[in-house]
Amino acid sequence: MYRYDDRDRTIIGERVTQFRGQTERYLAGELSEEQFLPLRLQNGLYIQRLAPMLRIAVPYGLLNSAQIRRLARISRDYDKGYAHFTTRQNLQFNWPQLEEVPDILAELAEVEMHAVQTSGNCIRNTTSDPYAGVARDEIVDPRPYCELIRQWSTFHPEFAFLPRKFKIAVNGATTDRAAIRVHDIGVQIVERDGEIGFQVLVGGGQGRTPVIAELIRDFLPERDLLSYLEAIVRIYNQLGRRDNKYKARIKILVKAMGAEEFARLVEAEWEKIKDGAEQLTPEALAWAKSFFTEPAYNAFDGAASDTALEQQAAEDKAFSRWLERNTFRHRVPGYRAVRLSTKPTGVPPGDVTDRQMEAIADLADAFSFGEARVTHDQNVVLADVQQDKLYEVWQTARAHGFATPNIGTLTDMICCPGGDYCSLANAKSIPIAEAIQRRFDDMDYLYDLGDLNLNISGCMNACGHHHVGHIGILGVDKKGEEFYQVQLGGSSSEQASLAKVLGPSFSRAEVTDVIGKILDLYVAERHPDELFIDTYNRIGLQPFKETVYAKAS
Ligand code: HEM
Ligand code: SF4
Repeated sequence: MYRYDDRDRTIIGERVTQFRGQTERYLAGELSEEQFLPLRLQNGLYIQRLAPMLRIAVPYGLLNSAQIRRLARISRDYDKGYAHFTTRQNLQFNWPQLEEVPDILAELAEVEMHAVQTSGNCIRNTTSDPYAGVARDEIVDPRPYCELIRQWSTFHPEFAFLPRKFKIAVNGATTDRAAIRVHDIGVQIVERDGEIGFQVLVGGGQGRTPVIAELIRDFLPERDLLSYLEAIVRIYNQLGRRDNKYKARIKILVKAMGAEEFARLVEAEWEKIKDGAEQLTPEALAWAKSFFTEPAYNAFDGAASDTALEQQAAEDKAFSRWLERNTFRHRVPGYRAVRLSTKPTGVPPGDVTDRQMEAIADLADAFSFGEARVTHDQNVVLADVQQDKLYEVWQTARAHGFATPNIGTLTDMICCPGGDYCSLANAKSIPIAEAIQRRFDDMDYLYDLGDLNLNISGCMNACGHHHVGHIGILGVDKKGEEFYQVQLGGSSSEQASLAKVLGPSFSRAEVTDVIGKILDLYVAERHPDELFIDTYNRIGLQPFKETVYAKAS
């Protein structure tokens, strides 16, 4: 894991001091609302429905146990004893007091954390695969590149006031677990003839105008990563629209001029800077990689370890279910990655209490080299657990409420804070998530349905990724009343697609029945072992439409 050097500590410390002064001047009436707005946004602070909301950056989702414990303590001392993991692998506090935010930031700085670039029109926290470094299908570990991007983008003077926010995701495996095709820039690590490089995609995004990113470079040499990103963001900064905030994202620019023309401009700009200061030397690359070396794995006989685990699973059905759904095969024999579910029924997806965070820190220390990762579907990963310790981990996780064996199933849904917290919401989303979890709580049924993503957003800003859910639910306002539109067929995987609207929206009371009808049709129509998304792609929207809107006879 990357550790701060003196320079990092200095700039983050200075930022805390500056923000303390700004907050004091605002509270004393010396700064107007308007003057304070950009200052607080540069420090992750939104003003929401009921209280300020503070978003903390978790670089590419990676946390050490000291950081998790500090987050737990902050949630207890300054908030209501819980926090919320977001879909960009960050963490939010929903109830801080404005006057205490500088103290929170000072507490975070002590454990090498901050809230810069988590809001405002700048390059946001880079996201990545939560299984980075351990996945069997990994080409190269993406974390060193994420860290290089983090350092390049932090306080980048040219990019502090972009037309709009800017999100970058990096994936290093053959399966896309970082949703790179719905990011402003998606970076896919590739290997060609033994050389490491990148495919670069631009102009993806969700929000009110969802777009799948376009490939603008098929192979970018490793050394050129930062200069090429710089060229892209520079062209966007110069040509992106500033007259209309709904048309300001890079996706609109790329659509307007066409990906080919955009690529041509980027290449021309890049030619001018590619041999300059941003070129990554072998030393710089080696330095970045030095923070992500292998932990001290024990050597196991993989086959013997697998057999022992199978025996344990055979003796305990509940453990076996958890093992099946909530653990992930590791590239090192005798190890697995464990996914802690934040989605038991009745808990808003992504919410964790102070005690749970402390339990995660303890589990990380005892079983996973002191680290944990936040996933983009709002769960937590312990990446390096010995298989012979899985039973113990499961029991502890169960005692703390995050061993619900539902990973990847219908109830492992992504859900935004919606109308319970967010002032932009058209409708509440958390009660919809809960109603669906309650209705579909039979695990055997969920397992029979198999992998299925259901994503819920409370408005068209799409924080809950409804455009890329196999089933997406969107809160809409119909003459002042909360309604829900259902969409089908979205995916953020390597075969990314945008969901299509099923038809007229539904009242809250109708939503679970509608989901039930959709699932019934899938079960009736599927081929053996065919996943929901594949059945949908084969039969299309129409049969679902006919079933859901059929008049009762
Ligand atoms: C409660 C306060 C929040 C507000 C006011 C808010 C506001 C917004 C807005 C206005 C957009 C659309 C921006 C655009 O397309 O340019 C957006 C997008 C997004 N938000 Fe939020 N959001 C909030 C909370 C969250 C939370 C809690 C999450 C994670 C669970 C989240 C994740 C996202 C994501 C992933 C997008 C993606 C859309 C994209 O960039 O293409 N937001 N948010
Ligand atoms: S999708 Fe809309 S309601 Fe949900 S958090 Fe984003 S802005 Fe708020």
